[in-house]
Amino acid sequence: MKIIVVDSYREMSKRAAKLVAAEVEANPLAVLGLATGSTPEGMYAELVKLNREGKVDFSRVTTFNLDEYAGLAPEHDQSYYYYMHHHLFNQINVRPEQINMPSCDLEDVDQFCLEYDQRIAAAGGIDLQVLGIGGNGHIGFNEPGDQLRVHTHLVDLTEDTILANSRFFNSVEEVPKQAVTMGLGSIMLAGKIILLAAGKAKSEAIARTVCGLITTAIPASILQLHRDVTIIVDREAADLII
Ligand code: GLP
Repeated sequence: MKIIVVDSYREMSKRAAKLVAAEVEANPLAVLGLATGSTPEGMYAELVKLNREGKVDFSRVTTFNLDEYAGLAPEHDQSYYYYMHHHLFNQINVRPEQINMPSCDLEDVDQFCLEYDQRIAAAGGIDLQVLGIGGNGHIGFNEPGDQLRVHTHLVDLTEDTILANSRFFNSVEEVPKQAVTMGLGSIMLAGKIILLAAGKAKSEAIARTVCGLITTAIPASILQLHRDVTIIVDREAADLII
């Protein structure tokens, strides 16, 4: 794992955006795996800027998002569909038909999950996967537990995650209790992975991801087995590893 410790959230965002832009420059047909959450917002703002300045062209790129809350309509301002269109897709020149997001629809969810993985495979797999990390060590919505799942699946969110994400909702009751998430298979098969983390609240998860045993209790720890992971963290998130 390559670990880059930076001084600020802004620097983390810029470094990450540069890596994504470099990937697209090297391969205009790149397949990008994208994450949501507050952490990558700054990176998306940088990518929008680079696209407007003509420094990166997304017109031939394909995207796959990691996850979506079950049952939250795309118009809901906390859906990841809304987030991605608001922060990135509506502001860059990606083609709408090249955007892939997990469905929030619970009807035929197993079939959807199967097809989502087939779509990723048909696109040739993910070239560059961007990840955030939950305070409990989750990636996407692959939650800690006894088992980790390979394929895209419906997951029950843990109390930790529901509580952590309630900051975006009016109340904890409004947070969906389930989500559809890419499994660890598509993530681990990505050519490159960039994991971003900022703030003290992520320091333990980062330490256990980077230095701990590989365990289902910290799903991100499996990234130790990947050949090309770059972790970009600010000093606070790196607090327990430096
Ligand atoms: C969310 C998402 C993850 C994200 C994580 C951290 O629940 N499913 O993809 O990485 O939690 O979010 P944040 O960046 O807001 O701390």
